[in-house]
Amino acid sequence: MSETERTPRDYPFPVPEGIAPPGEWAELRQGCPVAHVRLPSGDQATLLTRYDDVRRVLSDPRFPRDLTAPDAARLTTSRVVVFEEASPIPMSGEGHQRWRRLIGRWFTVRRMLRLKPRIEAMAEHLVDEMTEHGPPADMVAALNFPLPVWVICEILGVPDSDRDKFSHWSSTRLSFGRYSAEEIETATGEYAEYFTAHIAKKRADPGDDLLSELANVVDAEDGRLSEVELLATGQGLLMAGHETTSNQLGKMFAQLLADRTRWEALLADTGLVRTAVEETLRMDAMSPFGLPRYLTEPFEVGGETLPAGTTVITSLAAANRDADAFADAEQIRLDRSPNTHIAFGVGPHSCIGQALARTELQAVLDVVLRRLPTLDLAVPVEKLPRREGMLVGGLEALPVKW
Ligand code: HEM
Repeated sequence: MSETERTPRDYPFPVPEGIAPPGEWAELRQGCPVAHVRLPSGDQATLLTRYDDVRRVLSDPRFPRDLTAPDAARLTTSRVVVFEEASPIPMSGEGHQRWRRLIGRWFTVRRMLRLKPRIEAMAEHLVDEMTEHGPPADMVAALNFPLPVWVICEILGVPDSDRDKFSHWSSTRLSFGRYSAEEIETATGEYAEYFTAHIAKKRADPGDDLLSELANVVDAEDGRLSEVELLATGQGLLMAGHETTSNQLGKMFAQLLADRTRWEALLADTGLVRTAVEETLRMDAMSPFGLPRYLTEPFEVGGETLPAGTTVITSLAAANRDADAFADAEQIRLDRSPNTHIAFGVGPHSCIGQALARTELQAVLDVVLRRLPTLDLAVPVEKLPRREGMLVGGLEALPVKW
């Protein structure tokens, strides 16, 4: 490590305009794959940017993702972390795996296939509303933000008439900084009250949704989820599945429209939708942070031994552009296959909702290609306003015309 690299760099790195990645990713992957960084809290951590290194740390079940150890780095002083720490669902170990098994077995391929037409109908409906008022329109507000909440309502068995309430609670809780602490408390309280009553309804009168299954599970091995665990699961799915998917929809359309030959290629061959969705997940340059892990034991990575007590930040987005893992790593190839990107994480915490997220991204892209073939950005790509989320970044708005 050179002398300059001993001085920690401020992290996350400043992001360039538009949809380009920070230059530091390529620089560190090549020259300093185990880098010293200072987080927004002022605490220090170790940043990994190479594909193999990132995979190795994330795959290791010894290393928890909750940073509750006294010497773990604090990422930020914001409330996002507080919510996570307060969760009654175990964050690691056997308890966590039991929870994953219970939730995970609902997200089957068969179930996703059945959901797809419902998701397409939701996208059709939102596109209808968007085209009534435009062009131009902000696709984030019109389509990308509402759709994933509607889908989560569907999987939790929340009636259509209540999904606007859900949308409001979710946006209040997600938009840290935009709402007062009091407004967030109120939204959290209302949500808990609604959801508790909803669970009782699902126990009494189960439907074909995830919540009914969880509320009524009688399983010798996995047992039942308690009331608090069910509430936290509903909350967790909304938190984990809303902002991520909303943002990814925007990032997908921005990448596909930034160079219209990509859009034209998809119009000419909609069979490319599946691989194009994967490639835009791989090429996402707007997730500026990455996933943290706390080393409970010394760990050798990138030719260095990191001591126990190190907080490691794994940059999925930097790893996804590693030329040692992907041919033409910095190029978007709509037909890339296989595509072993790790945008959904890897290992014991990898995304439970990835099949659902993929189904949503593919369904929306299918619908928009069909309904709005002339779709284009209404502002130059460098002018797209970015939203700096702590864990997943995205676009504040996506002005489009057609
Ligand atoms: C494009 C959209 C999405 C992206 C990019 C994404 C990404 C991720 C990533 C990277 C992780 C790993 C976190 C870690 O290892 O610390 C994760 C975990 C998780 N995701 Fe997603 N996700 C998406 C959509 C969804 C959806 C739609 C749901 C469910 C409705 C969901 C539910 C979860 C849950 C419950 C976890 C925690 C798993 C665990 O701790 O074991 N995600 N997601």
